Amino acid sequence: MDREQARLRIEHLRAELLRHNQLYYQQSQPEISDQQYDQLDKELQDLELSWPEFIIEESPSAMVGSDRDGNFPSLPHSTPMLSLQNSYDLQEVTAFDQRMRRELGQEQITYTVEPKMDGVAVAARYRDGKLQVALTRGDGRQGDVITDNVATFREVPMQLAEDWDRAFPDSGVQEFEVRGEAYLTLTRFAQLNEERRQQEQAELANPRNATAGTLKTLDSEEVRRRGLSIFFYQIFPVVHGVRQPDQHSGEFPHHQAEIDALRFLGFPVNPFFKTARSPEEISGHLHELESQRLDLDYQIDGAVIKVDSHASQLRLKSTAKAPRWGLAFKFAAEQAVTTLKEITLQVGRTGVITPVAELDPVALAGSTVSRATLHNWDDMGRKDIRLGDRVIVVKGGDIIPKILRVCLEQRNGNPKPVVAVTDCPVCGKPVSREDGAAALRCRNPFCPAVVAGRLRHFVGRDACDIGGLGGQSLDLFLEIGLVSGPADLFRLERTTLATLPGWGEKSADRVLSGIKRSTQRPWEAKIFALGIPQVGVTTARTLALSFGDIDTLLQATKAELSILPDVGDTVAGQVVEFLHGEGGSQLVDNLRLVGFFLETEQGPSASVAAEGGNWFQNKIVVITGTMESMGRAEAKKAMMALGAKVTGSVTGKTELLIAGEKAGSKLEKAKKLGVEILDEKEFLARLSEARNIAAEGSVES
Ligand code: IVH
Repeated sequence: MDREQARLRIEHLRAELLRHNQLYYQQSQPEISDQQYDQLDKELQDLELSWPEFIIEESPSAMVGSDRDGNFPSLPHSTPMLSLQNSYDLQEVTAFDQRMRRELGQEQITYTVEPKMDGVAVAARYRDGKLQVALTRGDGRQGDVITDNVATFREVPMQLAEDWDRAFPDSGVQEFEVRGEAYLTLTRFAQLNEERRQQEQAELANPRNATAGTLKTLDSEEVRRRGLSIFFYQIFPVVHGVRQPDQHSGEFPHHQAEIDALRFLGFPVNPFFKTARSPEEISGHLHELESQRLDLDYQIDGAVIKVDSHASQLRLKSTAKAPRWGLAFKFAAEQAVTTLKEITLQVGRTGVITPVAELDPVALAGSTVSRATLHNWDDMGRKDIRLGDRVIVVKGGDIIPKILRVCLEQRNGNPKPVVAVTDCPVCGKPVSREDGAAALRCRNPFCPAVVAGRLRHFVGRDACDIGGLGGQSLDLFLEIGLVSGPADLFRLERTTLATLPGWGEKSADRVLSGIKRSTQRPWEAKIFALGIPQVGVTTARTLALSFGDIDTLLQATKAELSILPDVGDTVAGQVVEFLHGEGGSQLVDNLRLVGFFLETEQGPSASVAAEGGNWFQNKIVVITGTMESMGRAEAKKAMMALGAKVTGSVTGKTELLIAGEKAGSKLEKAKKLGVEILDEKEFLARLSEARNIAAEGSVES
């Protein structure tokens, strides 16, 4: 890189970083992950080191971003509110420890490890035991005055007990400052969004942004209603109203004492607080914290590692941006930015056409993401998603990532809006849209995508439960014309199967006995297996209870169906339309011919569905061990989205344990208590089933 190229790149990086600071601190709408931000920042710092002639004082590499928005009066901080240096892997933690030992000339150092709250920094000053003023971080030197808003926090004392000054080692302290991180609990966040949905207001994107927005609300009553929480992590006396930048908390001998003082004064502090003397010990705490992450009712984005001794902190000093004695260790991000390369279309078993975003692969919450669901064209239109756009992908409660929004500022040129298809991408027949429905649907019951989807559904666990028949085998069967629908499975021959590529006698026997056994499946499982639109396991069970066999079910009228619990007009209409429509009636006839239906069907089994919704609804669940397909946090969110209550420990109330690999004491306890236990495979099957049911309500109606 020559001098001119370096100058241009430095300018570009500075402009970008300033823009991202603005998006994060002022608009609470970050476009890139913290890690991506740090990469840009690192590149700028490296270039400034190599080309010192381009260094300027107000470079974003040397300043913290500002949250000041001009709507509040501002005041200078008693000591700068800095940021922390971020790290993303354990090697950086080891390097940090080496640096600290070298700079302090010590063999061993005591560190503290605590959660890094994903919230918003707040400073509050007390004089004579009374809250005087509260400030945001602002630009680090000067913050916005938000005293009235902070005064609404239930956990922030307005007036301390008379003996408050006993908290300080030195007597004669009149004024002190506490600093901490304001946040919204996940429970409160969910409640607020529920209210907003009901009032048809835009939902809050995530708890951190909601916290930032709330702190900057001009109406304190609204702030009180939102119900913010806070954890404090710093306390120091304010001498003459001003402190030197590096007089960090020097009045307490170490950080642990500082936390004790906060606790003594009644300020909330995070219960997770550890000390460590080596990178190995730190790493142990980081793992422990990460494993607890999903059990917390608030978001943390990592851990903060600090040199415990304040005398050492003073010696280590700070840069203009961050103290040298601290390090933030960040966990994997749950949001990332990438490019939308293409939109492909997926046709489901009910003919619903779902647009899928094909993305430039990007790291997200511990895995690489290259596809995201786009739901439907209405949703795409609302979000104005176009080809080539930079988009923000999130993993919310779902395993399938979705696109949160487009980074409109980064749009190149004027790409055309994506128009809805008129013909099915698989069979070419015209598609239609039901009144009021957002989804487009291929109504051709013989569309190959629909046929394949039905077949997959038919063999699935809560349907016929035919093991050993994966999607690839079924595709092969369809491709070579071995089957054209579920009934043909009953005509498969051992010799044909055993000679298929990748098959043998053993696998053929296994599949054939599974197919045979399927005629003995509970009646509701057979109804479910038919794949009637909007009929999940629960509705199938309701139908099975009311109509004892296939003939009685076929005779049911829409009016009879619609008075059943949880059925209603729409579902009743779907049932009748399906059973008497071209595809459905042929399916039923064919299955009847191969002896799938019994004269007296076996009644519903308790195992297929719990009353009142999908299988997870209202269940009290514990997750333990590790899973290959997803982290525990993801599993927890997925189940919570389905109405399960996920708790941390196995008790008499626990109804279900999801046990991954290396499950330990929780598994033992669950066995003792007779709690139902699912391994990863069983869990995934249940999950996709429950999702289908939940989705049938929202996508297709
Ligand atoms: S100590 C000089 N401890 O993270 C900064 N900060 O990225 C010393 N934060 O500005 C801060 N949890 O807003 C500290 N346990 C914790 C924290 C924490 C969250 C925030 C804080 C800080 C930012 C730095």
